[in-house]
Amino acid sequence: MSFIVTAYITCHYQQREKELHKQESNNMRLVISLAATFSLVGIILLCSLLYWFCHRRRNLKSSGCGCSGITFLNRFSRSKTLDKRTTKQGTVSLIDYNILEEGTSGFKESNILGQGGFGCVYSATLENNISAAVKKLDCANEDAAKEFKSEVEILSKLQHPNIISLLGYSTNDTARFIVYELMPNVSLESHLHGSSQGSAITWPMRMKIALDVTRGLEYLHEHCHPAIIHRDLKSSNILLDSNFNAKISDFGLAVVDGPKNKNHKLSGTVGYVAPEYLLNGQLTEKSDVYAFGVVLLELLLGKKPVEKLAPGECQSIITWAMPYLTDRTKLPSVIDPAIKDTMDLKHLYQVAAVAILCVQPEPSYRPLITDVLHSLIPLVPMELGGTLKTIKCASMDHC
Ligand SMILES: Nc1ncnc2c1ncn2[C@@H]1O[C@H](COP(=O)(O)OP(=O)(O)OP(=O)(O)O)[C@@H](O)[C@H]1O
Ligand SMILES: [Mg+2]
Repeated sequence: MSFIVTAYITCHYQQREKELHKQESNNMRLVISLAATFSLVGIILLCSLLYWFCHRRRNLKSSGCGCSGITFLNRFSRSKTLDKRTTKQGTVSLIDYNILEEGTSGFKESNILGQGGFGCVYSATLENNISAAVKKLDCANEDAAKEFKSEVEILSKLQHPNIISLLGYSTNDTARFIVYELMPNVSLESHLHGSSQGSAITWPMRMKIALDVTRGLEYLHEHCHPAIIHRDLKSSNILLDSNFNAKISDFGLAVVDGPKNKNHKLSGTVGYVAPEYLLNGQLTEKSDVYAFGVVLLELLLGKKPVEKLAPGECQSIITWAMPYLTDRTKLPSVIDPAIKDTMDLKHLYQVAAVAILCVQPEPSYRPLITDVLHSLIPLVPMELGGTLKTIKCASMDHC
């Protein structure tokens, strides 16, 4: 009997132990699955937090330049053939080379808008009927490659009505391509020194173009942090849209100011380069102010920055113009024939005074671009973006 009871008790305990063991392993499994679930949720939360943080930092950085994405780019980058890439701080579309080839009719000569030091710029019609200008840069040229990289990187961060918009870029085996919005009235240079000899741009339009350029430069110098020095401001890099709104283009030589960016190869265009940069490599925002002064003289006088007098003999517009600019009685006689006697003389003297200040050899005597902007605003008619009240006229040509 006692054996049966003992056996029963042993059996009962063994069963109870088995049940306990089973329950324990069930509990264990529950704990493990709970831990796994919590870890997974934690990882997801951490990833989302990290993503949000990175995204926020990028927006903050770009907001320093007021560059929260490019409208053109957004419209354009919906296309399936475009691949959006992120440069150091901005976003830019990689455009399929075949689209550019098709859009420029195989880079046909009749599509050439102009020629620069590194290649031609072609007009193109891209997807969704978007008009564009395509700059083709030779791959083999090291300087062209550097300018390509720098221009794409800088332009992808900028957004301003007076700065050219970047639509994207492309590459093939032999060349690189930068794609911009198309400026139907091409460059200021082509109007001033091309076949029309300035006849298409009246005095009020010239003042508006000058004001637009100062607005673009003020954005680069004062609203971008760190500031951007364009380094190659000239009439061929001032482009005009269908309403003659001016935009600054060609950022291949532009430098982002700051302590790290001091040693740059001496670059620029003869006639526009400030003397302190040419002699000592001293590069500041005042170099752009000097180049702007030269453009202002081109607008006033209709002359090129450097005129050839005889073979091997050149004269700078500044040297030539200074005696006239400082003598009110002589100044009207040297104004561009296309606009001669069409402006208020008081306004002419004011613009001449601004130009003289901008091209001062000593950079500290030159004004800041903000000061130039404020002195030009009252000289531009209200309907063109300034504050000058004018008597209404039928068309701008007669103003
Ligand atoms: N977005 C654009 N829309 C219309 N025309 C353009 C556009 N970009 C450039 N061009 C034209 O193409 C020409 C060549 O431009 P590019 O910037 O290559 O050279 P550049 O400014 O003339 O000289 P450099 O090579 O010395 O800078 C310009 O002068 C202008 O006439
Ligand atoms: Mg150019």
